[in-house]
Amino acid sequence: MKTILITGGAGFIGSHMVRFMLNKYPDYRIINLDSLTYAGNLENLRDVEDKLNYSFIKADINDADAIQKVFDDHDINGVIHLAAESHVDRSISNPTEFIHTNIVGTVNLLNAARHHWKDNYEGRLFYHVSTDEVYGSLGDTGLFTETTAYDPRSPYSASKASSDHLVRAWYHTFKLPVIISNCSNNYGGYQFPEKLIPLIIYNIKHNKPLPIYGKGENVRDWLYVVDHASAIDRIFHKGCIGETYNIGGNNEWKNIDLVKLLCKIMDDRLGRPEGTSEKLITFVTDRAGHDLRYAIDSGKLQSELGWEPSLEFSEGLEKTVDWYLANEEWLNNVTSGDYQKYYDKMYSSR
Ligand code: NAD
Ligand code: TYD
Repeated sequence: MKTILITGGAGFIGSHMVRFMLNKYPDYRIINLDSLTYAGNLENLRDVEDKLNYSFIKADINDADAIQKVFDDHDINGVIHLAAESHVDRSISNPTEFIHTNIVGTVNLLNAARHHWKDNYEGRLFYHVSTDEVYGSLGDTGLFTETTAYDPRSPYSASKASSDHLVRAWYHTFKLPVIISNCSNNYGGYQFPEKLIPLIIYNIKHNKPLPIYGKGENVRDWLYVVDHASAIDRIFHKGCIGETYNIGGNNEWKNIDLVKLLCKIMDDRLGRPEGTSEKLITFVTDRAGHDLRYAIDSGKLQSELGWEPSLEFSEGLEKTVDWYLANEEWLNNVTSGDYQKYYDKMYSSR
């Protein structure tokens, strides 16, 4: 019996990861550790929370003693570390929280694993989930590979880059068995509507302006979130200790083209004449330090571990739109409370 600690399991990718592991490995014990920030929501896991091999612990990775106790009480064999502050715009308005959680929180987990495992590393793994944003910004051509030099440019990406370096330091210095993966932008259900795709869907539904930063020419490489979970599973079980794997969808989109495609799907789904939603597009002041382009070469993961994304983008995007339309209650719940305050603060002065 393996006991796997998934941190940040109540968030967007984490909840898909928890669900994926529970469904695929009924003989594993899955512990979801999450402090339930604005981005964490146990509603994301309603369909699996009754499984006998699942448990939830509310704890903050910034609390070193609490984290050590979780490792010691539950005899953790494997960690899939996703807990983080994850939104670039919030990292621009409030960087300090990102330094605490993403850097110090990761070190607390590394220390707890090391002290609990006491140099007996057989069958143990600390898997750190990171982002392609650590590599910086590309021009019109080229792809990030695992050997691209780090060049983070936002407080978010700098905090993730820092955590990646610390994870590697624990591997080289203390021999802690680690693996890191760096993934491109994810999309799918249960994503908090501060990120581009769910925010645009939410705004179209409510006839609100669709804020496009700058000219909308920035490019992101989009991957369906369940494909990210399947890649993590493959790497967790088959990857080499000490290695890094890039994960991407080979699916580059300019923001403006992606938003127009979403407008088209939404017009169709809402029975509105084609072109209705596009009228809501509003160009707003650009994000400070906005990275122009991210694009991932995931050749190593494909050739060495045989992973491939399963969904075409058009199918994934339609599935995603349908999910948000079918889960109105979820969307209403996560946008109650402080969401409007956040939205006004972030967008009213743009
Ligand atoms: P998210 O913001 O949706 O979820 C983060 C989760 O971490 C939430 O449940 C939150 O409650 C929890 N959390 C935050 N601070 C915590 C703390 N101090 N202690 C315990 N739990 C805490 O994020 P996401 O988009 O699901 O991203 C998950 C991970 O994947 C992050 O590490 C992120 O850097 C990485 N990543 C995200 C993307 C993406 O496109 N979203 C792409 C590549 C990598
Ligand atoms: P986002 O979903 O925040 O992911 P990231 O910044 O981590 O890539 O943003 C995706 C792209 O969309 C990015 O280039 C910024 C842009 N964007 C907008 O144009 N308008 C918005 O309201 C948001 C949230 C993002």
